[in-house]
Amino acid sequence: MTGSEIRAKFLEYMKENGHAVVPSSSLVPDDPSVLLTTAGMQQFKKYYTGEADALKDFGAKSTASAQKSFRTSDIESVGDESHLTFFEMLGNFSFGGYFKKEAITYAFEFITKVMGLTISYVTVFKGSDAVPKDEESKRLWNELGITDVREEGMEDVFWGPTGASGPCGPTTEVYLKNSTGQDIEVWNVVFNQFFYSGSREDLLANNPERQLTPLETPGIDTGMGLERLTMISQNTPTIFDTDLFKTPFEFLFENKNLDARSARIMADHLRASTFLLADGVRPSNKERGYILRRLIRRLLVIAKKNLVGQEDLLAYIKKVVNYYGAYYLELKMDEGTVMDEFTLEAKKFSNTLDKGLREFDKRYPDAHSKDLVSTEIGKDSFDLYQTYGFPIEVIRELLEGRNYKFNEEEFRAKLDEEFKHHQEISRAGIEKKFGGHGLILDTGELKAGSEEELKIVTRLHTATHMLQQALRMVLGEEVHQAGSDITVERARFDFTFPRKVTPEEIAEVEKIVNQKIAEDLPMQKVTLPKEEAEKTGALYFFKEKYPDPVSVYYIGKDIETAFSKEFCGGPHVTHTGEIGKFKIGKEEGIGAGLRRIRVTVS
Ligand code: ALA
Repeated sequence: MTGSEIRAKFLEYMKENGHAVVPSSSLVPDDPSVLLTTAGMQQFKKYYTGEADALKDFGAKSTASAQKSFRTSDIESVGDESHLTFFEMLGNFSFGGYFKKEAITYAFEFITKVMGLTISYVTVFKGSDAVPKDEESKRLWNELGITDVREEGMEDVFWGPTGASGPCGPTTEVYLKNSTGQDIEVWNVVFNQFFYSGSREDLLANNPERQLTPLETPGIDTGMGLERLTMISQNTPTIFDTDLFKTPFEFLFENKNLDARSARIMADHLRASTFLLADGVRPSNKERGYILRRLIRRLLVIAKKNLVGQEDLLAYIKKVVNYYGAYYLELKMDEGTVMDEFTLEAKKFSNTLDKGLREFDKRYPDAHSKDLVSTEIGKDSFDLYQTYGFPIEVIRELLEGRNYKFNEEEFRAKLDEEFKHHQEISRAGIEKKFGGHGLILDTGELKAGSEEELKIVTRLHTATHMLQQALRMVLGEEVHQAGSDITVERARFDFTFPRKVTPEEIAEVEKIVNQKIAEDLPMQKVTLPKEEAEKTGALYFFKEKYPDPVSVYYIGKDIETAFSKEFCGGPHVTHTGEIGKFKIGKEEGIGAGLRRIRVTVS
């Protein structure tokens, strides 16, 4: 059976057994608490809680789907036999309809009768101090003739609660043997059975103040990776040898330039990027946009190093669209956009990609015969991240490819240091300026020697926010603040950009800022919990370092349509008109991939 046939068989089987077949929901979930959809049950949360009625919406108390899912937790393992970022999850769900007996019977029948496979063994919950053993599941499996029923604990076969309190319950997992005789978990059946009035930690510690009560309407939530099931059904050594990957990526796997691991990473990341782009995710420096950017950049680095051309990458994406578009129609509908957005991101990265790789060659020229440990490498390789936009896993891979040991601790320490540097930079600049004499005003972010001077530095401060936004509009989102320094004479703004900014571009930036000054837009502030603040799309330096809640300063009528939004401590003007005439002075390079602009207001 092909992967597509298995998907269809699953949905058909569940339909015959009274499930309403529901299309996959988007990879971008409705639920703002999650970045990307990680499981089939996510789109059905409100049916489990009783907020919505499945019978009314689907005509049945149970549903089934093939769900587009994405998990970042496995990103570092991609390249082995069975790990993926994007995968398809087959699942059946019940909201107060059937429970354990039917769920276990469906799992048994589908695997053994429909697929004709042999169950190696299953697991059930062995019980803990707080929760009784799942005797019923064990008995049900035994009655179906499965005698190898292994009892496991909380860590492996108990789901939830996911929050401070919530639903939870035991699970049972189905293991099948792969082509080399290894046992692989393919199906996880979750019994949403209890409500616990504490967190998972409380439950593990059997906190006596918390209670476990049976749910009034228990639910079923199951998930089975289509790729793994297909691998076992087709008896292939890896998921990449199934038709799910072979069909679109045959030529990639045959490319002699590529080692197996690199080819697998490329295949996974190409497929995942295609699906993310089709669901409207766009590469950016935040949240899900940054996940997508990391995938694309990682695959572009591998492609570049192994002489796989841009045209080939686009051809693979087209094949993904053709192959998967038969079931996921949105891929076909958005094919043009997917191609355009991928091309755009590749173009944005191409300049720094070449320079970054050259820089890497310069700094780490030779492969070492054995691991070379150096504390400098964490700090030093930080440049590849900050200046050239290489994601952390790419830096690690490049270094490890030459037997350098990547020092993540140092890397992260450098991230911290850069942030502090940024925070202190305007303060330090001013302190020098006034030499510590008569520092009478200190707002935290800005310092000045008099009320008059404070007014000027405040105008310049707001101007740097506008400058950053205008630079991003003219030069692209690659532009990131790398530091700033404000004195009464001028503001200095350092940012990441790989080349000289042309006089035409400078003129354009100036024009945008002066236009927004002429519009006399209000500068407004809102204080939000950090998580919500991030969702506004406001720019920040290193998000970990801002207080929670954090102030977001935005220029415009409301935050959605604001011209500029940034995490910031202020102070700022109240209307852009107060800034006066904005002028860009000198533009210069101050190191690889770093530029500096000086501006004045009058
Ligand atoms: N939601 C369950 C899982 O993700 C089925 O494994």
